[in-house]
Amino acid sequence: MSDALTAASIATPAGTAPFPAAVRGEGVYLWDAAGRRYLDGSSGAVVTSLGHGNARVLRAMREQAERVCFAYARYWENRPDQELANRLAAHCGFGLDAAFFVSGGSEAIETCIKFARQLAVARGQTGRWKVISRLPSYHGNTLGALSLTGDPLLASIFAPLLAKMPKISAPLTYRLPVGHTVESWAAQAAAELGECIEREGPDSVLAFIMEPVGGTSTGALVAVDSYYRQIRETCDRYGILLILDEVMSGMGRTGRFVAAQHWPDCRPDILALGKGMGAGYTPLAAMLTSSALVAEVRRMGGFAHGHTYVANPLSCAVGCAVIDELLERELLANCRTQGDYLRAQLLELKERNPLVGDVRGRGLQLAVEIVGDQAACAPLPAAVGAMERLKNLCAERGLALLHRSTAGGQFGEWFMVCPPLIVTPSQLDELVDAFAGALAAFRDELAREGLL
Ligand SMILES: Cc1ncc(COP(=O)(O)O)c(C=O)c1O
Repeated sequence: MSDALTAASIATPAGTAPFPAAVRGEGVYLWDAAGRRYLDGSSGAVVTSLGHGNARVLRAMREQAERVCFAYARYWENRPDQELANRLAAHCGFGLDAAFFVSGGSEAIETCIKFARQLAVARGQTGRWKVISRLPSYHGNTLGALSLTGDPLLASIFAPLLAKMPKISAPLTYRLPVGHTVESWAAQAAAELGECIEREGPDSVLAFIMEPVGGTSTGALVAVDSYYRQIRETCDRYGILLILDEVMSGMGRTGRFVAAQHWPDCRPDILALGKGMGAGYTPLAAMLTSSALVAEVRRMGGFAHGHTYVANPLSCAVGCAVIDELLERELLANCRTQGDYLRAQLLELKERNPLVGDVRGRGLQLAVEIVGDQAACAPLPAAVGAMERLKNLCAERGLALLHRSTAGGQFGEWFMVCPPLIVTPSQLDELVDAFAGALAAFRDELAREGLL
C-alpha cells in the first residue's frame, strides 16, 4: 500500500518533488533523512527563534507534561496561563494586561476581530463590523483572517466564503507609484485610512488591522515613522480600534519585544502574537488587550469565544520558558546586532549581484527582493520560475530559505531572511555565502538560457 497523502503534498501542485524529511534539529541547523545539514535561514516560517533543541524549553515541556498537560479553560485556571499573561503584560507594555491564548496565528486574528466586535456590541455600537486592512497583507488562512488578508489571488478562490472587508494601500517602499517618494507614498497610504472610513461610513467601521513590520505578504515592509503616528491619530479621530498583527514581528523578532515598541505613539488596542511565542516547540498564539476593554465585554456576559485548546497549560509553560530564554540570553540585543550585520552583508550582496532588487526589514525580520532588472525594479518573468529555482540552489548549498510571491508575484517576490535570534556572526557568514553562491549560479543559468 502506498503512503497516505500529507499536508506537504496536499498543498503543492501535482508533480512537485517531495520535500526533504526533517529528522533532527540542533541550534540553527536541521538535518534531512540523508544526513544533509541545512541552516534554518528563515526559522521555518519565521518561527524557530531559539533554534532547535533548546534545553530550557525541553525541560519546561517535560516538567509541565509530568504535572498536567490539559485542563479545560472553561473549568480550570492553570498556573502557566497566568504566568505567561503576567510576563507578556510586563514586557509588551502599552497596558496590554489581558491575554487570551490560542493555538496559532490565524486563530489569534479571529480572536482579535471577534473581541473587537463584541466590544462594539457591548458599547451599543452594533452597526460597527467592518475591519479595514491593507493590500497586500497577510493575516492568516482561516475564513475570518482570510477576509482581512490582502491577497487577490487567495481571495479569488475563497471569495464566496469570505466577508467583504475594505482594503487600503500598504505603504510600500519599493516599486513606488509614479511621482511618489517613500515619504509621500506613506503619507498618502495613511490618508487612505481616513478616506476609506468616510466612504464606508464611520459608524460601520470597527477596526483597522496592520502588520507593523510586514511579513511574507510585503517582504518585511517597514514604513516611515510618521506613518505609524498618522494611523493611530486616524483611529482616534474616528473611535475605531487599532489591531496590530504581530504574529510574525512580535516576541523579539525585530529587536524589540514587540515591534510596536519601535513606534511608541502607535499604541495598539489589541495585539496578536504567534510564531515566536511557541518558537516551534508548541502551537501557541495570543490575543492581548487591556483589562479595561475586557471589563466592558465581561459586563455583557464575558467573551463569547473559545476553542478546546485555549490557555493550554503545556503550551503556556513552553511560552514562559521561551520568554525566559529570550530575556536571560539577551536575545533581543543579539537580534539587533546580528540584524545590522546581516543587513549590511545583504546590501553588499545587492552591489555584487543585480538579481537583488531590495533589502528591507527590521532586526532579524529581513527580506531580499529578487528582480530581473535592478533599475526598473522589475521581477523576472513568471515563466522563469526564479524563486523555486533559487530555493533549490540554496538547498543544494545547505541553506533552507522561505520565499513568497504575493498574488502570483503582482507585488514582487522575495526571500524571508530571518534566521533564529540565537544566530552568530559566523553562521550569518555561512548563510550569506550560500545565498550569494546560489544567486551567482542562478545568474549563470539565466545567461546560458539567453535571459540576461
Ligand atoms: C502576520 C501574520 N499574521 C497571521 C499569520 C497566521 O498565522 P498561522 O499561520 O500561525 O495561522 C501569519 C502567518 O504567517 C502572519 O505572518
